Amino acid sequence: DRRLEIVPHACIHVGNDGVIESIEAGHHTHTDSEVSVLPTDSMTHYNSPDPQQQHTVVTVQWPQFIVPGFVDLHLHAPQLPQAGTQMHVPLETWLRETTIPREARFGNVEWAQKVWQKLVRKTLSNGTSTAVYFASKHAQSALLLAEECLQRGQRAFVGKVCMDNKDMCLCQATAQKDSSVSLSEPCVCTESTQESVEETRHFIQEMASLHNTQTNNNDPLVQAVITPRFVPSCSPELLTKLGQLTQEYKIHVQSHAWESDWQVLYGEETRNARDLDIFLSHNLVSPKGTVLAHAVHANDSEITRLAETGVGVAHCPLSNAFFANGIMPARLMLDAGVAVGLGTDIGGAWSASILDSCRQAITSSRILRDGVGKLRGGKPCEHAAEINHIDAFWMATVGGALALGRKGGIQVGAKFDALVIDVENESNIDYFHELDTPEDLFQKFVALGDDRNIRQVFVDGKCVLAK
Ligand code: GUN
Ligand code: FE
Repeated sequence: DRRLEIVPHACIHVGNDGVIESIEAGHHTHTDSEVSVLPTDSMTHYNSPDPQQQHTVVTVQWPQFIVPGFVDLHLHAPQLPQAGTQMHVPLETWLRETTIPREARFGNVEWAQKVWQKLVRKTLSNGTSTAVYFASKHAQSALLLAEECLQRGQRAFVGKVCMDNKDMCLCQATAQKDSSVSLSEPCVCTESTQESVEETRHFIQEMASLHNTQTNNNDPLVQAVITPRFVPSCSPELLTKLGQLTQEYKIHVQSHAWESDWQVLYGEETRNARDLDIFLSHNLVSPKGTVLAHAVHANDSEITRLAETGVGVAHCPLSNAFFANGIMPARLMLDAGVAVGLGTDIGGAWSASILDSCRQAITSSRILRDGVGKLRGGKPCEHAAEINHIDAFWMATVGGALALGRKGGIQVGAKFDALVIDVENESNIDYFHELDTPEDLFQKFVALGDDRNIRQVFVDGKCVLAK
């Protein structure tokens, strides 16, 4: 049910555990016990269920308003330095010659730390309260990313990337062309099957001890994700072992699926199967939640099975325009009951802003409606493909949470992960109080908003960024 609910003069009570306890509408007086919600003229935000105890009060004055924080369901942390470059080459070349060789540098923890600091600050500033990261193949660097998120207060799902297929890397050829990549024999970009499995187990265990340092043990702020890069990067043996780890530790899984013709064909030719079947047959679908990025070339029966198996999809519309050469039928998937969220897919795309993903999801869908016949097997499609601003915002927040097996949005029982939006700053949004309704302002925020409009970021009930 993708609806926009606007609650004026609202009041949100948040417990010590960061969970929303109640939302009351229509508070017009400014007392201590009063609170907030979506467009609101006042908000009090309790950190304590006990009125005797100290609590934090946050008040928001219209035309400031509160919205749920963004979930970036798919991005590659080590690709920040290359974001905005190399977008003009095909996926296979981009991966083999640029992306996978460059990720090898993240064995250097100082380099990793420098990039992680920039990225976490940038995504938080853009309103990403939850990020689902691919780190690099290095467990140590992946752990540092999780620690950076924990320290800054960003909810994060972090994967140590698994890839044992050396054919997916052309680092030696690349090193000759690009002096910034200096690599020795043999390829250090990929890993052996055994190394990949052992490092993943090590990473999961280290993340578990990180959890012990967190107050909220049953829902830690940072969590490990099993991360086979994609079918072409992973031997069947590696997939089997990662499937065993998934069932043993019962943690989330993420990968890429149905991204390009080349990628789908690789599975069909080498495994005689397509992506979802391959993941299912290796037990790589987790009871906690599974996120497959792209899904541009999923067929109709696969879309049905995504809904049946509860496997979520990260829609990365900007990246898809370049590397997938197609448009994911997001509306078709939503209507089929698939949990669809949005991803920025840094650095398969240049923007770290989920608002940009919203806008691209909207514009791509308008093209899909007319071009759908050509894009989906030459047959005309009756289905209206349109994603509107509410659908897009829903995917950016609630949909992403659902794909992770979580409750999203601003509702009782969900974590208070939220943003305070301000349109009166110097920014791209022109607000006319004589004309603009709350609905208009919300739509303007989706169409024109950026990090300048995001004044505060709350995660787990705490303010983690204020500007
Ligand atoms: N498929 C496997 N790895 C990647 C990646 O890093 N980016 C994208 N867009 N697709 C992939
Ligand atoms: Fe990706």
